[in-house]
Amino acid sequence: MDAQHAIITKRDTRSFRSEPVPDEQLTAVLKAARMAGSAKNAQLTRLVVVTDPETKVELAGCGDFTSWIGTTPVVVVFAIPVEEGRLFDVGRMAQNLMVSAHDQGLATCPITFHHQDKMREAIGLPADMEGPMGVVLGIPGPPAPARPRAPRIPLDELVHHERWEG
Ligand SMILES: Cc1cc2nc3c(=O)[nH]c(=O)nc-3n(C[C@H](O)[C@H](O)[C@H](O)COP(=O)(O)O)c2cc1C
Repeated sequence: MDAQHAIITKRDTRSFRSEPVPDEQLTAVLKAARMAGSAKNAQLTRLVVVTDPETKVELAGCGDFTSWIGTTPVVVVFAIPVEEGRLFDVGRMAQNLMVSAHDQGLATCPITFHHQDKMREAIGLPADMEGPMGVVLGIPGPPAPARPRAPRIPLDELVHHERWEG
């Protein structure tokens, strides 16, 4: 799959088969995440890969829109230092991981963890770290019934040329 096609066709998926993600595929997506650049190449982001069923249920309670993740195959939590962590770095890493997964026929969905006290308890993060975002990963299941694909705004609405008024 070429890069443009992978980016254009990637959709966030919340339906997974119950089988585990093969180790070599998991390693490949983690390698893709690793290559994301970071501000000043500080590389402050760490990944916590969760497959334990009980921990995934705990993670499901860490976000306002994550109740569905408890039975998914893999949840990757992006852990960053509270003081210096950058969400832009996390986003780049997450997108690398998700595009690599899509290229390999795996499904993913980004998720938000709003409740950091619960997060620290769930995966043992120290007080100076937080895990605000994650990605769910697995072999795609049947498409959810009657869930319309989220459209994107037109290019000329998205893009301003030279200045805001342009
Ligand atoms: C920053 C970010 C946070 C998100 N958080 C959640 C979440 O907590 N729960 C969830 O189910 N989906 C979450 N999503 C997925 C969005 O709902 C999804 O990207 C959007 O609906 C577009 O879906 P599509 O790519 O399939 O068209 C998140 C996406 C992004 C980019």
